[in-house]
Amino acid sequence: MTFVLLYFRMKTKYTLVSASTSAIGEAIVSKLSPLGNIILHGRNQEELERIARSINSSKTLIWNFDLLNVEEIGNNLTSFLNKNEIIIEQFVHCAGTIKILPVKHFRLDFAREIFNVNFFSALEIIKVLLLKVNEKGLSNIVYISAMFSKFGDKGNSVYAASKGAIDSFVKSLAVELAPKVRVNSVLPGGLRTRMTNHLFEDTEYMEKYHNKYLLGEGIPDDIASMVRFLLSNESKWITGQNYMVDGGCSIHL
Ligand SMILES: NC(=O)c1ccc[n+]([C@@H]2O[C@H](COP(=O)([O-])OP(=O)(O)OC[C@H]3O[C@@H](n4cnc5c(N)ncnc54)[C@H](OP(=O)(O)O)[C@@H]3O)[C@@H](O)[C@H]2O)c1
Repeated sequence: MTFVLLYFRMKTKYTLVSASTSAIGEAIVSKLSPLGNIILHGRNQEELERIARSINSSKTLIWNFDLLNVEEIGNNLTSFLNKNEIIIEQFVHCAGTIKILPVKHFRLDFAREIFNVNFFSALEIIKVLLLKVNEKGLSNIVYISAMFSKFGDKGNSVYAASKGAIDSFVKSLAVELAPKVRVNSVLPGGLRTRMTNHLFEDTEYMEKYHNKYLLGEGIPDDIASMVRFLLSNESKWITGQNYMVDGGCSIHL
């Protein structure tokens, strides 16, 4: 009898936020943490522990893993789920890396790095979340893409292609996984974060920015609000969509 009870013990459900240490990731974690259990992902243990201490989540776990090692994601994440005896119900993929360079200078290893972090890691994580180890517990996925997946920009072609891959992936994945799992992406416009700080210190860029962004400067919390909406029941009839959150910039390029 004891054996039967143990066997059917319900596993605790979590939301995994990749790159919880990013400005946008941390804002997402802070919006979602009052709503449930969170897995903070990143590769800087000190930062992850700081964020864990700062949030108001009933249960928090840390998955410390460098997403450049895409081939190892399957085994590593599977062991993490088994060891903690948990299920990932929602996945927000926030990890991203960028290199701004004209295509003629773009080395293949730079492009591989960008695609590994921005796209292939997303694919490898999803594969685990659809396996038996996750007990068909997955119900919602949100990818953080970028406005430049849909618009041209000098030096940004490989980054844009990696985010474009995400946006296309969303559509077929939404068809493949419906009705059990909803899949959407959010495309932020330019925000001041570690990734873009150098641009926001450039007065010429800022002049153009203020002309283009009809609603002024955005903050990571603006992206987090959209993510929370897409993960909530308020959006239960929405799947397969790419949502621009950009202060009106994309209608005004
Ligand atoms: N800021 C913008 O204007 C903007 C616009 C559109 C889209 N986005 C997207 O928003 C997301 C968050 O970016 P952010 O602006 O908040 O910038 P950020 O603070 O620089 O965050 C980038 C995050 O990606 C993580 N990362 C990079 N390479 C990784 C790897 N190999 N393994 C694991 N994690 C890795 C970084 O981890 P570490 O902390 O360990 O370095 C960091 O947490 C990205 O997907 C980005 O493309 C940003």
